[in-house]
Amino acid sequence: MKVIREIDEMKREKLGRPSGFVPTMGYLHDGHLSLVRRSVGDNSSTVVSIFVNPTQFGPGEDYDRYPRDEGRDLSLLEKEGVDVVFIPRARDMYPAGFDTWVEVRGITDRLEGEKRPGHFRGVATVVLKLFNIVKPDRAYFGEKDYQQLLVIKKMVRELDLDIEIIPCPTVREEDGLAMSSRNTYLTPEERKVAPVIYRSLLLGRELYMKGERDAGVIKREMERLLCSEPLISIDYISVSDPDTLAELSEIKDRARILVAVRLGKARLIDNIAIP
Ligand code: PAF
Repeated sequence: MKVIREIDEMKREKLGRPSGFVPTMGYLHDGHLSLVRRSVGDNSSTVVSIFVNPTQFGPGEDYDRYPRDEGRDLSLLEKEGVDVVFIPRARDMYPAGFDTWVEVRGITDRLEGEKRPGHFRGVATVVLKLFNIVKPDRAYFGEKDYQQLLVIKKMVRELDLDIEIIPCPTVREEDGLAMSSRNTYLTPEERKVAPVIYRSLLLGRELYMKGERDAGVIKREMERLLCSEPLISIDYISVSDPDTLAELSEIKDRARILVAVRLGKARLIDNIAIP
């Protein structure tokens, strides 16, 4: 497994085709590894990037304390049969005077885009840069960051990038908590409470399955469940169109329920498909 830190060297690397790419911010867990396994299975070569991207964190967010463990990440990736790990430096990705940004409008107006202004501009910009440097045929993104997945798909479509975006299902702990590097911020007490996030999503889906179509009723019941845990504070509960993320008042056939909560020092997001 090759570790490349220089942008020019990554650009020159001759990858086996088709080539799969898994962009990450490191501190890898089974969610990341499921994307890696999928890529290794689908492609002749796989590149994983590890880059905690400063431009997608807002002021006061967790950029400085975001967990990092390069040695552990590299040994996990080696075991998965990854060909290249690309670990660029922030000063090379964003040299002094850097001022070119990718703005994916519309779909970023709400939810994470509204709560974290500038977040998706940072994500879209770094992902486009990584795509240009790595030049993969396919790229793998988890459905846990559902809005991010839609943003990347829209960017790829509208900027005519020749890259297939492969969505992959959320990987969960046994008790249902979606895997996330940010779960490490939870104290043991908060960790016990955290599965209520997924339980609230299951409740939303169950209400739909039993015939409820009023999104307001579904959100109120989910809110009631989440609020039964005093440690949780809700950022948003949304019943959205799964393609545009427009808020729905009534569910016709398809929807996505998305939740963001604060739990201690962690801000956690999760979502579920309807039906
Ligand atoms: O999902 C993430 O880990 C990040 O947003 C990504 C896609 C690696 C861009 O920094």
